[in-house]
Amino acid sequence: MKVRVLGSCAGGGLPQWNCGGDNSVRARRNDPDVPARTQPGLAVSTDGVRWSIVNASPDLRTQLASFPPLHPKPGTRDVPLDTIALTSAELDHVLGLLVLREALSFRIVSTRWVRDAILEHNAAWRLVEPIWGAASLDAPIALDRAGALELRFFPVPAKVPSYLRELAKPHAETTTGVRITERATGARLAFVPGLAALDSATMAELAAADVRLVDGTFFTAGELRAMKPGAPDAAAMGHVPIAGADGSLAALADLPGRTWYVHMNCTNPVLDATSPERARVRRAGVEIADDGLEIEL
Ligand code: MLT
Ligand code: MN
Repeated sequence: MKVRVLGSCAGGGLPQWNCGGDNSVRARRNDPDVPARTQPGLAVSTDGVRWSIVNASPDLRTQLASFPPLHPKPGTRDVPLDTIALTSAELDHVLGLLVLREALSFRIVSTRWVRDAILEHNAAWRLVEPIWGAASLDAPIALDRAGALELRFFPVPAKVPSYLRELAKPHAETTTGVRITERATGARLAFVPGLAALDSATMAELAAADVRLVDGTFFTAGELRAMKPGAPDAAAMGHVPIAGADGSLAALADLPGRTWYVHMNCTNPVLDATSPERARVRRAGVEIADDGLEIEL
């Protein structure tokens, strides 16, 4: 299985347009230690020819432009894209569907809750309704047309997206991780870009994967408040912090296989390659995913 990180940052990207924090300032100055990053998503393939995507960020247009394997065949409108799978209804995971609205030559899959919550409350998404299927939690489905990759959505602790808060009730299907397995080899990827707490079921999913890409939004619980007085903490925003006794790093450090953080917020000190926080993550055997990272498993 081949995995390409299309975008490694959380919603807002780096630099985030309204942020004058250290990371955003340095990214604007093209500091090589704090490279600019796009909003979150992955592409996966078995043969490097046909691809599927997990999560459609608002940056999908530029992410596709900078990835030739997903360009249309010259002289045609044939794009080698099979499926876009969505782990939640968060805007940084779904706005890209509207960016691709010129053609509906692929299919979309999410849980029923995610599909219905978006379609019921956002008229523009009705454009993509005809290609949008729902999958049950923990049920294996074919991700690609050839059936070489199997995808399962598994439930993770999280939150209802803020724009849906008064409109939709929380449900086990609100936020998921994905397990993607290559049928021929058994190689297994877990991708969990939003995670409020590391419960035992999520830990078991992460532990059983050969490669895992995990929510690294915040390094510490109060990080956003330091930039934005009155901001909620990480738990209220649905993200387990990296550091601390209940943080994700302590739990991920001992796992076999390979682990990357993804979906880092622009405030996260790990985005500075020279920071002590980055060094601490690496000492625990965990890496920070960059835009364009390619992983083979
Ligand atoms: C999140 O990851 O918590 C959301 O993407 C935040 C948002 O609403 O932009
Ligand atoms: Mn997000």
